Formats: sequence, structure tokens, C-alpha cells
Amino acid sequence: MKVGLIGFGVVGQGFAALISQKAADLSHRYGLEVQIAAVATRSRGSLYMPDGLNPESLLTAIKSGSLDTYPDQAGLRRGLSPLALASEGNFDVLIEVSPSNLKDGQPAISVIEAALHAGKHVVLANKGALVYGYESLSKTAVAAGKRLLFEASVMAGTPSLRLGMQSLAGCAISEARGIVNGTTNFILTQMGDGLSYADALAEAQRLGYAETDPTADVEGWDAAAKAVILGAALFGRQFAFDQMQVKGISQLTAQDIASAAAAGERWKLIARVTPEAAAVEPMRLPITHPLANVSGATNAITYTTDLMGDITLVGAGAGAVQTGFGLLSDLMEIHRETGI
Ligand code: HSE
Repeated sequence: MKVGLIGFGVVGQGFAALISQKAADLSHRYGLEVQIAAVATRSRGSLYMPDGLNPESLLTAIKSGSLDTYPDQAGLRRGLSPLALASEGNFDVLIEVSPSNLKDGQPAISVIEAALHAGKHVVLANKGALVYGYESLSKTAVAAGKRLLFEASVMAGTPSLRLGMQSLAGCAISEARGIVNGTTNFILTQMGDGLSYADALAEAQRLGYAETDPTADVEGWDAAAKAVILGAALFGRQFAFDQMQVKGISQLTAQDIASAAAAGERWKLIARVTPEAAAVEPMRLPITHPLANVSGATNAITYTTDLMGDITLVGAGAGAVQTGFGLLSDLMEIHRETGI
């Protein structure tokens, strides 16, 4: 399976490391062999090698600051744009992991559209593209007979979408609610342990949990994007992002955290989605509440269903390898379905 990566930040690098580390196992156990044929970034170069790039050399090059330091070899092309690669690159799956643009989802939407039109499957972690492009991209994918998969966009590689869309198919889900942003949950947990807001945020950035612009995390917009994605995936509703009720954690003070603790409660940033509405807000939960004990970058989601009652999934919500695995799980699905 040849893939082309658009974006090579924390998530793209996590994916490349995973592919390299798991290559023998994936081939042996599942007959899946993933080759990275292209990597394009906005400002750190672009590489295209139809026979496959070396993941280790890609990681060495990007750590030195630019893909331009990747060793020369016959057949290697440099400098192609994401759009050119999406349309003309010779690979099976486009993986979109460029930073989420929560204003209009571009340029990822155009790149994904071009890839689908060119007969490629698409796997993405990019939330902005789904918030603004889910409906049109889904239609394009169906018309092209290609898959558009995005498990990594909600709760990283923890199979939240696959649980809701596939394992629970046949149940009616009336609500999804939970903690879907790793950065803010990490900050709230660290503040509960006495760290300052600024130090906790800096640590979340250092660990690769935060968005390129962490305002999206702390103001609740990243969780809101995930709520929109859940609404689309579970209920076929495209909620208008700019009309949602969204409140983040940036106004919470050390004093707020301390008074909740004194009352036996903890602050959590909760997203809630029903077929009618989607919203995000910080809530004080008693420490006996299951979500109150989900700490650090861990996330949790509860689906309320007609046949199974409540089902809660707890797992990693952010991180390089964890999000890389979300992408890999989608590749596995494409591999199982198409045999590529
Ligand atoms: N910034 C996001 C988070 C990354 O903290 O949850 C995963 O989507």
C-alpha cells in the first residue's frame, strides 16, 4: 500500500515511526506493507519517490529542520505541492495530517477533493477539513468509489468512531458525551496537582498534545470540532461550527480548581452531542463520577444507546504514536476491504 502524507508534524512523524517500527509485524500478521511514497509540508520541503521513501531518513531529515536534507537518490523529486501530489502522485492513499484550519478547513479540503477525484482513498486526522467539508467530501468519496476515513480525528487512535459507527451499528445512539480534548484535560489535571496554567500548557505543547495554535484547545474549539465530527458520523448532521455553544478552560483559575477540590469535585471540559445539538463547556463533576477520574491526556466518551444502555470508552486522546495508530487502523480497514 503506497501512501502520500500531507503534513509532517507530530502526527505525521508519529505515523512514520510506527510504520517503521511495526513493518515486519504488519507484513507477517496481516500481509500489509505500507510504503511512504510522498511527504509534503507547507514550509519544510516536499519529497516524492514512487518506489518509497525511507521512514528513518525522513525522520532524521525533518528533525534537522527540513526535508531538503533527505539524501539524494535516482528518481527522487523535490518541491511538489500538496495539490500536485494529490492529483498526480502515484500512490493509493492520501493521508492528510496538516494542521487543522478551524476557520474554513482549507487548503486540506481542496487537497482531499483532488485526491478522491484522482482515485485515491483518503485517511485523515485533520479536523478542520471535516468540520467544513464532511458532507461534500463524503459525497465525492462515494461517487469516486473510494474510502474517506478519519478515526484519528476524535480521541486519536482510541476507536471512538469505529465503536459508534460500526460496533454499535443496529443500536440507536441518542447521545455522545465526554472528554475529547487531551490538552485541556492534561492542563486541568496538572493544575489540580499544583502546576500553573502556563506551565501545564507548555508541558502539553512539549509532549505534542496541543494543536499548532493551542488557542483551539484551551478555548474549546478543538473539542467543538470533534463534537461536529461525531454529529456527522453518528447522526448524519453537519452542525454549524460558528453557531455552537462553546466555552473553554482559559478562564478557569487556580482558585476555581481549588474550590472544586475542596467540595469533592473536579473540573472537566465536556462535549455533548445529540441529533439536535452539540455543545462544549467546562463542568464540575463529583469525584465519584466516572469522567472525573479520567486524567492527563486520556479521553473518554459515553454513548447512550437504546439496546445497550450506556457504553463508555476510555483511552488516549492525543499524542504522536497514539494518533499515528488511528491512521494505521484506517489503513488496516482499507487493506481488509480492498486487499491493497
Ligand atoms: N490537540 C488535540 C488534543 C490533539 O489535545 O486533544 C488530538 O486531537
